[in-house]
Amino acid sequence: MSVTINGKAHGPFEVRDELSMNDFLREYLGLTGTKFGCGLAQCLSCAVIVDNPDGTSETSPTCVVPAASFAGKSIRTVEGHARNGELSRLQKAFVEHFSFQCGYCTAGFLNEGQVLLERLARAPVARADLGRTIVEALDSHLCCCTGYVKYHVAVRDVILSDPQRYLR
Ligand code: FES
Ligand code: FES
Repeated sequence: MSVTINGKAHGPFEVRDELSMNDFLREYLGLTGTKFGCGLAQCLSCAVIVDNPDGTSETSPTCVVPAASFAGKSIRTVEGHARNGELSRLQKAFVEHFSFQCGYCTAGFLNEGQVLLERLARAPVARADLGRTIVEALDSHLCCCTGYVKYHVAVRDVILSDPQRYLR
């Protein structure tokens, strides 16, 4: 399989059918920013961004999904958010708001938050719906350190810092 990760083509690789995408990223490519938590598609600490050909994006768990099913796809991982050593706006907001404690869930929240920002840039929401929109977007991600509120505040902060872009 071949796959594009953070804009760079990788492969082709021969992979076993049962090799998970999580093991592929971590063991084949050394991209250990993508974590392995529950291994049951429940916590989403292992989530990456999948960029679709139509310009939309979504997150996908990697723990229970075979690496081979990502063949030909373009994905983004936590390692791809910073540019030239500078953190993304959302990464900075996570730091500024002390959103994470141990950080194990952070890559998943970051990827989900980024997908939300890009979705809102394409289809802004009313300000009155912002809180619910953030809750719905991040709802499936679990944080064992229970830092949920500060993740939500950080995402909200980024959106409110550029209302012309994200809100209608
Ligand atoms: S490790 Fe993949 S969803 Fe928990
Ligand atoms: S910051 Fe520790 S699991 Fe979320």
